[in-house]
Amino acid sequence: MTRPIVPREDRIRRTLDHLRNETTDEYETVSAFYPDEFTDPLLAGRERDLVFGRVPSIVAHSSELPRPNDFLTLQMPRNRIIVVRQRDGGVKAFVNLCRHRGALLEEQEKGRCRLFSCGYHRWSYDTDGSLRAVTKDSTFGEIDRSKYGLVELPCEERHGFVWVVDDAVPKKEGTGIDVADWLGPDLDPMLAEYHLEDLVAFRAEGFDEPVNWKIMQDAFLDGYHIQYAHPNTAGKHIHTNVLTVEDFGRHARFISPRKSIDRWLEEDPGDRSLAKYVTETHFLLPNSTLLRQPDHFQLLTFRPHPKDPGRSRMEMRLLVPTVSASGMAEDEWSGRWQKNWDILIAVLHQEDFPLLRGSQQGMASANAGSMVLGRNEVVNQIFHRELRRLLT
Ligand code: FES
Ligand SMILES: [Fe+2]
Repeated sequence: MTRPIVPREDRIRRTLDHLRNETTDEYETVSAFYPDEFTDPLLAGRERDLVFGRVPSIVAHSSELPRPNDFLTLQMPRNRIIVVRQRDGGVKAFVNLCRHRGALLEEQEKGRCRLFSCGYHRWSYDTDGSLRAVTKDSTFGEIDRSKYGLVELPCEERHGFVWVVDDAVPKKEGTGIDVADWLGPDLDPMLAEYHLEDLVAFRAEGFDEPVNWKIMQDAFLDGYHIQYAHPNTAGKHIHTNVLTVEDFGRHARFISPRKSIDRWLEEDPGDRSLAKYVTETHFLLPNSTLLRQPDHFQLLTFRPHPKDPGRSRMEMRLLVPTVSASGMAEDEWSGRWQKNWDILIAVLHQEDFPLLRGSQQGMASANAGSMVLGRNEVVNQIFHRELRRLLT
């Protein structure tokens, strides 16, 4: 269902009203939850199968695979995979495993190659997944090579991102992936307007943390912790507990005001754009936060560990205009974004991760008891509501 989209400047003015009145958007209820949601191996298995095995999630920005035969490898919740740019410009995803005796096919995290060649008995595969060569094949015996190509996963490139469904068995006829349908009529055109495909990933890095993926994801939808957990960093620049939220019934988007907007609390901003005073954040179910800053984007993804509910991998990507689009000299450009990146990394490692590790340890207490999400934690409520929906 499409609903009327409120223009951004109107949503920013609603945020200003929240600041004036010390209010924020609120969910209809508080919601209790239990610690075993973050420790139960059975639930973790259902999440892998019913969430990541069914719906598209982002694995890379297109600029990380700029040329034919560029690849990257990663651990999805259900499969180790290779994502590789095709000679025709498309992108495919395969299970990263040799079909002879199951050796790990590609060990590098990223690279470029014309063939994937197995280290065990040197079978090789084309980057389109087909089995190219069986070594000593006069003695190996007859096999139907078309049956021993790499196992392919549904993969689609859209809005500058590569999306994968982590299950080789299509749920329906067709390719098993439809990102536009998954994003829905509200969010799909919004992402198209951002032209994310014109940006480049200045840096993309992953962090393996001893924390459940939902604890991680929750922390990056949370406008309530800023001044308490980040008093000397983000808390200085961003208001705490003030969000203006659009609930798209699966995904969501919200405005968070910077403190620089305060000059317009008294003075009437008239018709001028207040976009530079806010961050607009998108929650993309199941596991991504996309932040739209005045001059760049940031993508955060959170992926469950394939076995241990108490572990996950976070990836962070800084998506910025290319050097030529920025009009900056190359070293000015890289200096600027490197500084931005370093600040983000410091806050993550020094402030967020220690808190979240402690949270995971606490959840393992035998008598942890129930906990509660407040009405002010709207986007966390949407995340947990939609996850429950996917699991039932
Ligand atoms: S396991 Fe790969 S060639 Fe034997
Ligand atoms: Fe934080």
